[in-house]
Amino acid sequence: MNKQSRYWSVVPAAGVGSRMAAAVPKQYLTLHGKTVFEHTLSRLCGHPQMSGVVVAISVGDEHWPQLDLSDFDNIHVAEGGAERCHSVLNGLQLLSGFAAANDWVLVHDAARPCIHHNDITMMIDALKDHPVGGLLGLPVADTMKRTSGENDVLETINRDNLWRALTPQMFRLGELTQALQTALDDGFLVTDDASAIEHAGLRPRMIVGRGDNIKITRPEDLSLAEMYLAQQEKN
Ligand code: CTP
Ligand code: MG
Repeated sequence: MNKQSRYWSVVPAAGVGSRMAAAVPKQYLTLHGKTVFEHTLSRLCGHPQMSGVVVAISVGDEHWPQLDLSDFDNIHVAEGGAERCHSVLNGLQLLSGFAAANDWVLVHDAARPCIHHNDITMMIDALKDHPVGGLLGLPVADTMKRTSGENDVLETINRDNLWRALTPQMFRLGELTQALQTALDDGFLVTDDASAIEHAGLRPRMIVGRGDNIKITRPEDLSLAEMYLAQQEKN
């Protein structure tokens, strides 16, 4: 009889935040009383089903040691990599030192501090018996256009069944590690974890997530995230 699978989180946090263009990487900006990163970690570490969290941090990151992590148990630190996928892979490899290949991993961007416990619970419930795993997403709301490199509109894309991919993205530790490694070896550009799984010929399940799970990317996202965090605290 197999031991019951556990749930872990890997949090890539080694980006520089070039689109935010702030003095520090965006995960270290302060929002609603604490850094973006601390909000994210408190939601993941505070989830009752989460066994532990692995963060991927840039070598030489001076901000990480300044965070107050005393409230959080079971955080492990891996090295960040050149791209998000390398950071995630480093995190998965560290995790495989103490987790089982069959355990579930929820990969979640450090830059998504508004992730709600209900979304994590709902995702785990929806996927725990799924053969592949899946991701949170939102159906696109706007009309979608494809342009030339010079921004001339070439076509309008039918938005039926078109989604924005969010995180967490939840897959089996062994399978995701293998899929990311293969995608990198094949020179296949992966901007999220699901695309590596797709590259392996598998079909991740899309799960409708909450609209407030935004990724902080540009300066205007900060006030929006601040508002969502304040709103979530009230409910
Ligand atoms: N990330 C990472 N390692 C990298 C690049 C990104 O761990 N080499 C992380 C970021 O820290 C972030 C998540 O992946 O939590 C999503 O990436 P993104 O929003 O693109 O963040 P940045 O790369 O920091 O921002 P930008 O693309 O504007 O530079
Ligand atoms: Mg980036």
